Amino acid sequence: MAKLPQMADTDLDAVISFLRSDHPLVAADPTPDVPSQPSLLTKLLCQVAWKPFPLPTKEILRPTGEDPVALGKYLAINLDCFSCHSADFKTNNYLEPESSPGYFAGGNQPLDHQGRVMNTPNLTPDKATGIGNWTEAQFIRAVKYGEKEGETALVFPMIPYVQLTDEEVGAIFRYLQTIPAIEQQVERSVYD
Ligand code: HEC
Repeated sequence: MAKLPQMADTDLDAVISFLRSDHPLVAADPTPDVPSQPSLLTKLLCQVAWKPFPLPTKEILRPTGEDPVALGKYLAINLDCFSCHSADFKTNNYLEPESSPGYFAGGNQPLDHQGRVMNTPNLTPDKATGIGNWTEAQFIRAVKYGEKEGETALVFPMIPYVQLTDEEVGAIFRYLQTIPAIEQQVERSVYD
C-alpha cells in the first residue's frame, strides 16, 4: 500500500471524486467485501511501526509545469517511484523522502508475481551505475513503454506508465538529474 503524505490537496480531491463517480471501474457493486483479518502481529505493528502520519497543517499545493524540476520531484515522490527505487521500504522516510537512505540509488527488493526478488535499479545521476548517461528520450521510453535498448523489456513490478505525458516523465528525469549521485551497482534480476 502506497504511503503518500505529500500528495497535493487537489490531487487527493480528484482521487476521491473519481472513486465516488459512476465510472465503470468504480461503479457501485453489490459484491460483499472480503473482510481483512490482520494477525495480532500486524495489529501490533500498526500501533508501532506503521503509525498514521501527522495530519498536514497547511494546504499542500501541486507544482505547475512551469518549473519542471519541482513538478518532477512531486511526481517522483507521489507516483511512489522513490519508494521502490530507494534502499528499502523499511528505511524509507515518507515524510521527508529525500532523507531516505540510498534515495533513488536502487537495491530495494520488491517481489514479482511469482514471489521472486526484483532488484530495483539505481536512478541517481551516477554515470557508471545510475542513469547519468541516459538521455531524456531513453528515460521516457523506459518509463512509459518498458523499453530498454539492447535489453529485454522491463517487467513487473515496474509497470509501463502509459498515462503520463512525455512532459511529466521528462520532468521526473530532469529532477532525477539534480539529486546526489550515489555509486551503487545493482544487478538486474533476470529469470527464464
Ligand atoms: C513497485 C516498485 C516500483 C515502482 C513504484 C517504480 N519502479 Fe521503476 N523499476 C522497478 C523495478 C523492479 C525495475 C527493474 C525491472 C526489470 O529489471 O525488468 C524498475 C526499472 C525502472 C527503470 C529502468 C532503469 C534501468 O537502469 O534499467 C526506470 C527508468 C524506472 N524504473 C523508473 C521509474 C519511475 C520514473 C517510477 C515512477 C513513475 C518507477 N520507476 C516506479 C520497480 C518500481
